[in-house]
Amino acid sequence: MKKYLVIGNPIEHSLSPLIHNYWMKKYRLIDSVYEKRKVEEKDLENIVKEIRDDEIIGMNVTVPFKQLIIPFLDELDIFAKNTQSVNTVKKVKNKIVGYNTDGLGFGQTIDDFCPQDSSMLESIDLILDGKNIFILGAGGVTPSIISTLEHKGGNIILSNRTKSKAEELKILFPKIKILDWGKKPKNYDIVINTTSVGLKKDEKINIDFSGCSGDKNKLFYDLIYNPKETNFLKEARLRENKTMNGQMMFLNQAIYAFYYWTNITPEIDDGVIKLLD
Ligand code: ATR
Repeated sequence: MKKYLVIGNPIEHSLSPLIHNYWMKKYRLIDSVYEKRKVEEKDLENIVKEIRDDEIIGMNVTVPFKQLIIPFLDELDIFAKNTQSVNTVKKVKNKIVGYNTDGLGFGQTIDDFCPQDSSMLESIDLILDGKNIFILGAGGVTPSIISTLEHKGGNIILSNRTKSKAEELKILFPKIKILDWGKKPKNYDIVINTTSVGLKKDEKINIDFSGCSGDKNKLFYDLIYNPKETNFLKEARLRENKTMNGQMMFLNQAIYAFYYWTNITPEIDDGVIKLLD
């Protein structure tokens, strides 16, 4: 049996096993199975050893271990290096390599995003060039989001409840501006929620965006995909702003991980979308 898994803490909520097992079945990788495992920081070294010993073939890493796993790996790909964050691991020629597919998945999603009511989107790179992007949160996935958006020419304004964590990210990304939690920038085109606020139905981000009511050019993007519509997105929809949830980014990062492990690029079909609904 070829074993794959996702590690994290908590991990119960992870939909990665559903998605990857679906693809393993679809592409007839009949001797492969993908599991989830709740681990503690002290377990990381042993898990990497399991990969070294070929007991695990591929691994996804989620919060809070995306950075903590790095000291146990032999090499990082360019995206993992730039973001100091790893979400995918495999063994390549006796080296344990950490990859980051979050930024790739996010970038793919942004590239595919083309609002039906707009003719202006020839290339999202053009659209993002010089745009002000307000990012909420400084957790495990935020460096990947910043890295991708900066690469596409966006100006990043970052706000996190714990300001010191935002300031740590400024070391990695010196161009970003930092704003106190609760405030909003004067000018912004896109707002991205990377916090965990909204995972529970009644949670709400207490920032007042009512000033942009009726602005159909502003995009509110929530990385959360379960629930499908957080209060952050619901309020934006009611204000008639553009909205997008994290479903496609989640799928796209999984597609890249699956490709790294198997050399197969899985397609997004109705079956896999249904798994996320
Ligand atoms: P981790 O911080 O372990 O990487 P995460 O789920 O990736 O975990 O990140 C959680 C993010 O949601 C953080 O930015 C966190 O802010 P803090 O750094 O201040 O903890 C943010 N967050 C969680 N609950 C929040 C709340 N009630 N209000 C505002 N931000 C919150």
